[in-house]
Amino acid sequence: MQNIITITLNPSLDKGTTVKAIVPEKKLACSNPVLEPGGGGINVSRALEHLGCNSLAIYMYGGYTGKKLHEMMFKTGIECVPFEIIEDTRENLIVVDTSENAQYRFGMKGAELSEEEWQKPLSFLEENTGYEYVVASGSIPKGVPMDYFGRVASIVQKKGAKLIIDTSGEALQHAVKEGVFMIKPNLDELSSLNGVEELKQEDIIAAAKNIIKSGGAEIVVVSMGAKGAILVNKEEAIQFSSPKVDLKSTVGAGDSMVAGLVLGISRKYNWADTLKLGIACGSAATMNEGTALCKKEDVETLFKSI
Ligand SMILES: Nc1ncnc2c1ncn2[C@@H]1O[C@H](COP(=O)(O)OP(=O)(O)OP(=O)(O)O)[C@@H](O)[C@H]1O
Ligand SMILES: [Mg+2]
Repeated sequence: MQNIITITLNPSLDKGTTVKAIVPEKKLACSNPVLEPGGGGINVSRALEHLGCNSLAIYMYGGYTGKKLHEMMFKTGIECVPFEIIEDTRENLIVVDTSENAQYRFGMKGAELSEEEWQKPLSFLEENTGYEYVVASGSIPKGVPMDYFGRVASIVQKKGAKLIIDTSGEALQHAVKEGVFMIKPNLDELSSLNGVEELKQEDIIAAAKNIIKSGGAEIVVVSMGAKGAILVNKEEAIQFSSPKVDLKSTVGAGDSMVAGLVLGISRKYNWADTLKLGIACGSAATMNEGTALCKKEDVETLFKSI
């Protein structure tokens, strides 16, 4: 059994293309699409693979798009536990308008899962042992109970493993209600977890500490895009700025950061270095076009500069 497991309930076949300009009513000539497997947990597994770390990716797949996604995942060499579903895997569209150098991200809702389908990842976690870290990332698709990650949390805890959650809204609220090892909210996600529109900079650490005090998580990493990130645990709050990078696309920054954090934890880095590795991976992802994730050489260079 791999040490790290990722779960993606709502993966996508990401389709990237470019167009001279996005204008209504006209036929738009786009470049041939570049396809990539996507979705929170899948991206974390792929970023880990770029960093030379094995993981096991659990994901749901269905229809023609799902078959393509599965075929592409299989080629990465990542250990996969795919569960077939009735509905089609969604396709997300990323279009770069080259005249404005602006990126448009069209995200589809995704397949609805039946109870029989969404129970399968839970049973897998129940029936297996030997894993230490589980990363549950991304949105909860239609048909799945909102407390799904809370259910994952209670299984993972029984197994003596640690759960890292990167999601938003109600799904995140439920996970925190159950109590997890780590959450990685961005500022918006932390704000809505606190029931406010936007947290003030000076209130971020207190908000994270409150979650820890109430048993919602042992570690809270608040990511703040170009501003960097703050790691808060029971004893301390550590903050680093993001390194200055030649920014190409921020797609996958959050997922790459989560990969860096879980890698640091599994390598038993101290908290400061774990945060540095997370930031280095997140920022390295922004140096690549489209949906590309972090590259190992960039991560190594950035890590030293933080
Ligand atoms: N513009 C940027 N410049 C440098 N680093 C960045 C930039 N944007 C993101 N990053 C890096 O990626 C990390 C995560 O980014 P962010 O806080 O935007 O996460 P997120 O909102 O969860 O992203 P996502 O949309 O991928 O889910 C940041 O902490 C930082 O290290
Ligand atoms: Mg995110």
